[in-house]
Amino acid sequence: MSTINISEDLRNLLYSIPDIDVKSLLESYQKPIRQSIRINTLKAREEYVLSMLRERSIELKKIPWARYGYWVVNDVNVSNTLEHMLGLIYIQGAVSMAPVEVLSPKPGELVLDLCAAPGSKTTQIAQALQGEGVIVANDVNIKRIRALSSNVQRCGVINCIITQVDGRKFPLWAKGFFDKVLVDAPCTSLGIVSKDWSAAKKWSFRTSERLSKLQLSLAISGFECLKVGGIMIYATCTLSPQENEWVIDRLLANKPNARLENIRLEGLKINKGLLEWQHNKYNPELERCVRVYPYEHEAEGFFIAKIVKEGDS
Ligand SMILES: C[S@@+](CC[C@H](N)C(=O)[O-])C[C@H]1O[C@@H](n2cnc3c(N)ncnc32)[C@H](O)[C@@H]1O
Repeated sequence: MSTINISEDLRNLLYSIPDIDVKSLLESYQKPIRQSIRINTLKAREEYVLSMLRERSIELKKIPWARYGYWVVNDVNVSNTLEHMLGLIYIQGAVSMAPVEVLSPKPGELVLDLCAAPGSKTTQIAQALQGEGVIVANDVNIKRIRALSSNVQRCGVINCIITQVDGRKFPLWAKGFFDKVLVDAPCTSLGIVSKDWSAAKKWSFRTSERLSKLQLSLAISGFECLKVGGIMIYATCTLSPQENEWVIDRLLANKPNARLENIRLEGLKINKGLLEWQHNKYNPELERCVRVYPYEHEAEGFFIAKIVKEGDS
């Protein structure tokens, strides 16, 4: 078994989730996540940027599930390139591109990104909107909003309004307003441990449970901001059922007009959402959610749920 130092609670958690290959997961925690980028077509044509990168001998391979996503095959640090500084590319994890691909924003739509900083997914949404429609990118943390603002500018996004409020308050002024909502919730980050080992060392059931209450409030808030017929994606980069399936199960119990939809993305390995964990049974619809484990694509681990708002209850 691996030498990685993980908390007792985390060890117990991992062995409590039947479809996780714990050995592979712990090994993956010790390897860096594969570098990947998104070509930002708000600034230049895809082919043009690809040819600039080829001239720098940067080898790329298409990510099948992300329209403008590429793995960086060779060992170069793309963050030092002119293309990155100019916003022609955005460095973003391959699986982190999946939630917005599932959300599938269309030009002209009104989109709320409730927990937006530092803006990987906001700028990806902006790219899909092609300058038509509006994104409201919100976060509660001012330091992170500075990074969001800088990324939005660097990527040439002109149709984004940045707000700083507690996302739980958003329905007070935006109930039923948005076509699409993304809730990329704060979480215990078990899908990105190789970037930050402290997540594994200090992980506890207590913190996970505390966060799950905030996550549920944010999910309910995001759902209330949707128009009837609108789509919300709830995503986390963690593996804990308490922060994933439990949150969506409670959302469905709270909102009878919330329905889960299946998720399918080309080339992305998909494990179904859990229907049971630690003697708690979840709504059978939960199997429509998706769990992606870090060892499956040498990338981040993610949980994604696609929720549709039916006629108001
Ligand atoms: C997983 S990160 C978001 C990453 C971002 N979506 C991206 O792709 O770059 C979660 C964010 O939620 C924010 N957050 C935490 N509590 C919040 C709250 N009550 N309301 C709004 N945002 C909150 C954090 O500041 C953090 O930036």
